[in-house]
Amino acid sequence: MSIQHQIDLAKKYLKYYFKAGNRHDVHSPFVFSLIEDVLNKKADRPAYRPMENLRGQLLQSKAVVNVTDLGAGSLTGAGTQRKVSDIARHAAKPEKFGQLFYRLVQYFQPGSVLELGTSLGMSTAYMASAKPDAKVYTIEGCPNITELARTNFALLGLQNVQQFTGNFDEVLPKVLEQMQAPDFVYIDGNHRKEPTLDYFHQCAAKVQDHSIFIFDDIHWTPGMEEAWKEIQDDERVTLTIDLFFIGLVFFRKDFKIKQHFTIKY
Ligand SMILES: C[S@@+](CC[C@H](N)C(=O)[O-])C[C@H]1O[C@@H](n2cnc3c(N)ncnc32)[C@H](O)[C@@H]1O
Repeated sequence: MSIQHQIDLAKKYLKYYFKAGNRHDVHSPFVFSLIEDVLNKKADRPAYRPMENLRGQLLQSKAVVNVTDLGAGSLTGAGTQRKVSDIARHAAKPEKFGQLFYRLVQYFQPGSVLELGTSLGMSTAYMASAKPDAKVYTIEGCPNITELARTNFALLGLQNVQQFTGNFDEVLPKVLEQMQAPDFVYIDGNHRKEPTLDYFHQCAAKVQDHSIFIFDDIHWTPGMEEAWKEIQDDERVTLTIDLFFIGLVFFRKDFKIKQHFTIKY
């Protein structure tokens, strides 16, 4: 990430920080409960330990992996050889968000979870362990990283994760064909406007009233902000919640008026 990009992101974050509301600023009972029962329940839980122990091991790892990067990457132009510890540090969603995904899955109880961007499997593991009877489909473009994630799922004893390897462009349509409906979708790879909108439209074509989509890095670049705005404006979308580093999208038709919230997290 260039210095200029870091400065731009910091400015956007400050704007978010001063604009974002809390539970007292929302009149929607649905959003109020989501804040009270999920977002604000940040206390540590024993259930998070296996994932954080694994993260600790990955951060200490001396291993190096040959990486095929099909996405927007980290905008650093990183080469093909990467340390596993660097991937764990830079690509995996931090603890705070992994744990939020865990609570969101427990709260919404999706039958199926679809993730674009497995990486080492940290976020996958949080979602899969939150509901062991949910089917978790996760896609990763780099075959070597897929294998590292496979080892991690085995170490964690997770049996409800189905991994797919390949470019989202080719694999996503096939995975969606296998799924009845994507109840819970987390899009965390190839953070560019057009691909993000393409993934959104492919998933939204099978959306259910209760579905929830999560987009990562919605403020990462102007292009990602444009994609987020288009998603908010989509006629199927009835509620969005901007948490700055991620955005939540809902499709429930009982929300009579479309609303967009920006909530401090
Ligand atoms: C930010 S990482 C995912 C992190 C992971 N969700 C976590 O929080 O632990 C994004 C991953 O998406 C993969 N990726 C990016 N673009 C892709 C594409 N077009 N097709 C398949 N995989 C892609 C990258 O290889 C990378 O491992």
